[in-house]
Amino acid sequence: MRIENTAAVITGGASGLGFATAKNFREGGAQVTILDRDAKGAEAAESIGAHFIQTDVTGEESVQAAIGFAVKKMGKITAAVNCAGIGTAEKTLGRDGPHSLDHYKRIIDINLVGTFNVARLASAEIAKNDPESDGARGVIINTASIAAFDGQMGQVGYSSSKAAIAGMSLPMARDLARNGIRVMAIAPGIFMTPMLAGLPEDVQTGLAASVTCPKRLGDPSEYAALARFIVENGYLNGETIRIDGALRMQ
Ligand SMILES: NC(=O)c1ccc[n+]([C@@H]2O[C@H](COP(=O)([O-])OP(=O)(O)OC[C@H]3O[C@@H](n4cnc5c(N)ncnc54)[C@H](O)[C@@H]3O)[C@@H](O)[C@H]2O)c1
Repeated sequence: MRIENTAAVITGGASGLGFATAKNFREGGAQVTILDRDAKGAEAAESIGAHFIQTDVTGEESVQAAIGFAVKKMGKITAAVNCAGIGTAEKTLGRDGPHSLDHYKRIIDINLVGTFNVARLASAEIAKNDPESDGARGVIINTASIAAFDGQMGQVGYSSSKAAIAGMSLPMARDLARNGIRVMAIAPGIFMTPMLAGLPEDVQTGLAASVTCPKRLGDPSEYAALARFIVENGYLNGETIRIDGALRMQ
């Protein structure tokens, strides 16, 4: 699929990896609609000539409305990139007692249920596109994490949500094969997004040193370049790609 023919909805596009992807796609000539619960997405979208609608990815009506808005603005949807997500740090059994069940459910709801909600509703629109010569109608790209495979202490909720996203790629690709929709996931290592930039400099340096090569944090533009490559390479399907400088967490 050519990037200039792409009409993409990008969740979490107000910030970090989602914004870098929106910017990359716009630079390639794609139409983009940013879906984010943070109203600052309006300014982010305006800066790159994208559309914006305030959306909570966990809500059925909210995402339904956002998909309708995106189709109205762009005429179609050919790609859905799920970047909305949150992180948490809490142990299964900590000093203050067991992991809060509400916290666990919240991270699953935003990271996992939100991703599935957008994927399922976007797929219904993508399925309406005229097929390319090989039957392709579009692509869904979900964001897992290397925490899906190498989760750290305190990441039980986050890792559960991300492992499920990695596990979703193949069955969803199989489900949507008859509709000509590919499904891929990206598992980033440690990227310099606003979340990471808030950490003390010595912590950032320590994280960078733990990467095998190159010894630095990932740049969001590198995630964005991979998302674009997935859009453009029509033979990628049903797989999760790590992008992590060969970082393997202990
Ligand atoms: N930065 C990293 O190192 C890293 C590594 C691995 C995976 N990831 C994953 O990549 C994704 C993007 O991370 P980031 O670093 O760019 O984070 P970020 O905090 O910069 O951006 C996340 C965006 O998601 C939005 N969001 C959160 N909950 C939402 C909801 N319910 N509905 C709509 N929007 C919502 C936020 O408003 C924000 O704009 C996340 O899923 C994260 O888990 C990030």
